[in-house]
Amino acid sequence: METKVKILDEENIDENVIKQAGEIIKNGGLVAFPTETVYGLGANALDENAVKKIFKAKGRPQDNPLIVHISDIDEIKTLVKCIPDAAKKFMDKFWPGPMTIILPKTDLIPDVTSASLKSVGIRMPSNKIARALIKTSKVPIAAPSANISGRPSPTDVERCIEDLNGKVDYILGGDMCEFGVESTVIDCTVTPSCILRPGRITLEMIKSIEPDAYIDPAIMKKPDENLKPKAPGMKYRHYAPKAKVKIVRGDLKKTIAKINEMVQNYIDEDKKVGIMATDETKEYYKNGVIISLGSRKNMVQISKNLFETLRSFDDKNVDIIISEAFCEEGIGVAVMNRLQKSAGFDITTV
Ligand code: TXA
Ligand code: MG
Repeated sequence: METKVKILDEENIDENVIKQAGEIIKNGGLVAFPTETVYGLGANALDENAVKKIFKAKGRPQDNPLIVHISDIDEIKTLVKCIPDAAKKFMDKFWPGPMTIILPKTDLIPDVTSASLKSVGIRMPSNKIARALIKTSKVPIAAPSANISGRPSPTDVERCIEDLNGKVDYILGGDMCEFGVESTVIDCTVTPSCILRPGRITLEMIKSIEPDAYIDPAIMKKPDENLKPKAPGMKYRHYAPKAKVKIVRGDLKKTIAKINEMVQNYIDEDKKVGIMATDETKEYYKNGVIISLGSRKNMVQISKNLFETLRSFDDKNVDIIISEAFCEEGIGVAVMNRLQKSAGFDITTV
């Protein structure tokens, strides 16, 4: 399949391009587009055959439901059976933005979209290109992250092209995604509401609206038989670059010493090692390919750079990536969730 690529100026969106892309969605095709979190791979959420194409293009397991994106609050009415009070408050406060709300679905949503669950995740993104596309196509858009299943989500158009060229009809490019980790997924079919996937909308922000809300206890741990994540997608190994990822956690000084020691051991074994460092620590590493995620004082910058940095180590053909750990607080919870999954929970504590 030939994939058309168009890069748009987010401040001055070419309406003709959006019209063409909207037509493709309407006609059952696939369009990748930027959002404020990561790039999405979109199709008409109500068209079973179009949605099936998403699963095929990504190589996504059939039991992993898709998020349905809307551009206007009115569009939700036909998609969900009810909107509990808590959900209504989250929509008022956090939409448009990086939050997906799980609600009981109506029959309009095909089983392929919801992976046969009785619920559906709805999100109203804030990115202007995403909103224009949904609005113009006049249908809700099902969109998982625009990566091949298992790989880190694309946060810029080049990565999107890398994964999807030849597999989709159209790729719309914009700026690099603002937040870099996927939306917070919150289940509002239960009381209190439960966070199934941490993101930019943090537990603290959610608790300011619903004090009893909590994070699914299964997601920050290595999955086991007794404690399975509630979101189907959170149980898979995910966000993994080709290189093996390892995390060192603890006091920063000890972390640096441990990473230097590990790097030396790998170099002795003829392995190429990447170090995922921070502005505060990067000067203290002696060997290896060192990339800083940004300053520890700006965790949004770190989340924005996380997936791109994991992928750029693959470009440099490293065998192993060793990353520092981050404080599990605020958006740091989302960063550590993605990092731990990319490392398959290979963590050394110092
Ligand atoms: O930021 C985002 O959410 C991006 C952009 C493109 O909007 N999309 C995204 O979609 O990350 P995806 O498919 O990569 O991740 C969706 C996650 C999966 O873990 C899935 O299992 C979970 O949300 N999910 C979706 N619907 C669900 C439902 N009804 N119940 C429980 N979990 C659900
Ligand atoms: Mg994904």
